[in-house]
Amino acid sequence: MKSDLIICHINHLVTLKGINDLRCGKEMRDVEIINDGYVVVKDGRIIEVSKGSGYKDFMDDKTQLVSGKGYLMTPGLIDSHTHLVHGGSRENELQMKLEGRDYLDILKAGGGILNTVKQTRQASFDTLYQKAKSSLDVMLTYGVTTVEAKSGYGLNLETEMKQLEVGKKLNETHPCDIKNTFLGAHAIPLEYKNNKNAYIEQIINMLPIIKEKDLAVYCDVFCEGDVFTIEESEFILGQAKKHGFKLKIHADEIYPLGGAKLACRIGATSADHLMASTKDDFKDLAEHKMVCNLLPATSFNLNKNYAKARDMIDFGCGISLSSDYNPGSCPTENLQFVMQLSSIKMKMLPQEVITAVTMNGACCINEEKNIGSIEIGKKADFVLFDVPNLEYLIYHFGINHVKDVYKNGKLVVSDQKICY
Ligand code: NIG
Ligand code: FE
Repeated sequence: MKSDLIICHINHLVTLKGINDLRCGKEMRDVEIINDGYVVVKDGRIIEVSKGSGYKDFMDDKTQLVSGKGYLMTPGLIDSHTHLVHGGSRENELQMKLEGRDYLDILKAGGGILNTVKQTRQASFDTLYQKAKSSLDVMLTYGVTTVEAKSGYGLNLETEMKQLEVGKKLNETHPCDIKNTFLGAHAIPLEYKNNKNAYIEQIINMLPIIKEKDLAVYCDVFCEGDVFTIEESEFILGQAKKHGFKLKIHADEIYPLGGAKLACRIGATSADHLMASTKDDFKDLAEHKMVCNLLPATSFNLNKNYAKARDMIDFGCGISLSSDYNPGSCPTENLQFVMQLSSIKMKMLPQEVITAVTMNGACCINEEKNIGSIEIGKKADFVLFDVPNLEYLIYHFGINHVKDVYKNGKLVVSDQKICY
């Protein structure tokens, strides 16, 4: 069979070949690294992965041959928890933070998430689209080819839908694949300040409309002190499940309310944050093979504790890592920084880190059959990093190591510049 594209003589080809399912505990170290590897692509899919010079059998005069000499290749990175689409930013809250005002206190006073709600409601579709597109371009230049994007800055049907429609349009127009999540339960809007139950009713009313318009795959809840309680979260997610949503939870981010256990109880796809979860939760998460989606750049930016990734892995949990990109708790699109933090601050090994942003990231958005590894049949999404080995990618922090990015077999970033 002939091919469209071959990357040959790749110094280290990190394939992640193996089980196309959540890798838990010690399995997170199984990454398979081929030296002098090659990848063959046809029609946007991978048709062969091997080593040496066998790629020549797949060549004809139309095949584009690229040398991967000196580079490390990984699957396209997956950012499986972002608040990509939003209006404005919140640098005006920096001084308050530096003076010691707590993140949840700022929200309680009508700032924080509610500040962004105001800006998102005011922004036009086009403004939101252009801003999110710029962020997506940054993500792509850092090696991210698939993104989960949450709403949650509308808190009314009109603006929640506007956010989700921006995500949907970007999925059609931008090289990155985007999966949408409805996060109507992100905060209680000011107009329902003294009537949370009425707002919960509004959320429940939005569910069938969003589902019918096919605007989101997942429903998520910010289960947190002064936001949504365990009971409220369980109720909202239970209703969402009935409408055919898959479920996610902002669980135990700041207070250990029991979000991790709720995720297990209701069969969520992932439990996210888990900064305040305990060893008792880890047992549950491991038993349920729950995707534990950790977001260490949020801990960094909020100056809070990091999730206990090392203990979690030793308990047999399966971890994914994401940016949590948003204008408040984590204003960065840089997933490589997240990877580097997870090693320095959460003691994750380089192999575990790369598993967390590829195969386990794919599981976090139910895409493990399509992406997350460099294997025959999968999408030809991959990144060439200008690093001598995997350890270096994690060790040398704060800069962008990407050279080129391929999405569906097409070069979309060349020498760190967008070229799609
Ligand atoms: O994941 N915690 C809730 N949501 C985001 C923060 C959103 C914001 O501050 O704007 C998070 O940390
Ligand atoms: Fe979040």
